[in-house]
Amino acid sequence: MDIDSLKNEWEELNKEFTELENCNRRYIELLEQLHSRQQICFNEIKHQRYRMNQITASLRQFKGPVDVEVKEKVDELQKMTLKRKAQLHEIEQSLPAKSGRYLQIILGDVNVSILNRNDKVRYKDDYEKFKLILNVIGLIMAFFNLIFNYRALELAFIFLLVWYYCTLTIRESILKVNGSRIKGWWRAHHFISTVAAGVLLVWPQGEHWQIFRMQFMYFNVYISIVQYLQFGYQKGLLYRLKALGERHNMDITIEGFHSWMWRGLSFLLPFLFIGYWFQAYNAWTLYKLAFTPPDAPWHVSVMSGLFLLLFVGNMATTLWVVPEKIRERSKERYRLLSMGKSMKLRREVKNSASDMDLASSANGGSTTQAATMTKTPSESQQPPVDEKKEI
Ligand code: COA
Repeated sequence: MDIDSLKNEWEELNKEFTELENCNRRYIELLEQLHSRQQICFNEIKHQRYRMNQITASLRQFKGPVDVEVKEKVDELQKMTLKRKAQLHEIEQSLPAKSGRYLQIILGDVNVSILNRNDKVRYKDDYEKFKLILNVIGLIMAFFNLIFNYRALELAFIFLLVWYYCTLTIRESILKVNGSRIKGWWRAHHFISTVAAGVLLVWPQGEHWQIFRMQFMYFNVYISIVQYLQFGYQKGLLYRLKALGERHNMDITIEGFHSWMWRGLSFLLPFLFIGYWFQAYNAWTLYKLAFTPPDAPWHVSVMSGLFLLLFVGNMATTLWVVPEKIRERSKERYRLLSMGKSMKLRREVKNSASDMDLASSANGGSTTQAATMTKTPSESQQPPVDEKKEI
């Protein structure tokens, strides 16, 4: 290639670079616009909440006996308030949220908000898969520990538990920032489990540990199986959640979602309660071990207390979840409706944006690649056809 053709090539590259600079300028402008739009949305949400609170407070005056017509209007307003709350919550899901103190300490001042509902669902899916993989590894290790009594193998398993629960607390804090309604207890449960695994790690090998060891390994095998069942339940809910954003008749889909959830729960609950009784049994065994044989290390009584705490907390929360689900049925319905609509809207906006990109590239623009890139892997990971039919 002679020097003139190289020069020509460089000039062509220069033109392309100018296009890139323009594109980047536009991108920065959009980022600025994005920021100011976010602020407007925050203010509007605040305003909506303020006015809604005022209306709710004024509605209290109609608590006593009132005309049927007035009562109907009050009920209607209360329903609309419930619906609006769900809508506002859904709008908030597309806006950045501040990390809690725990995340700020661990990760520093970094934004962990996911601004797209579909990506949030994908992150949750990833969290469930992470739990599944670690549970399978945990099950295998607990099983080997039942067969072999090697300290190194034992320590490797307990160290895995420390790391696993610690990671769960971080992932769950990120889920919480992104609008998950995970109960405080389940997060606390994973913090307590991290502490318990830490205590096990420093529990010296001795008579007391050897007595409790087998029971602890059987407990872990059982818990891994229960967590596999939990994975099946949560995965099923997630598939149906994804499908919500794709259906036209939302009511039918929400009914299907609920009936699947109740079937899943009634299958899962007996296994959970057996697991809780196993925790109580562990607490009882350790309590007895704290006295006989004598000279028990402090780890025995601490572990007994921790198992008792886990039993009480798990039992109380699970017993509370079921009536709460029945009580808040209509609230849940509005939440799912808003969520489905938001997922659908996002998908439509994305598709129309990629159509526009395709059209401009057909007109000779250089955005073909951008158009193909707008389809993320999550978009192509639709629920399987039979799953959709079942809903
Ligand atoms: N760990 C992490 N997240 C949990 C959770 C748990 N144990 N239980 C519920 N969540 C999440 C749900 O996925 C949901 O998330 P989202 O808002 O992002 O969609 C949110 O918390 C609200 O869930 P909720 O509607 O209250 O319950 P559910 O129907 O999803 O699950 C149970 C109900 C009872 C099946 C569930 O809480 C559970 O499996 N609990 C048992 C946990 C346990 O005891 N583990 C130890 C085993 S012995």
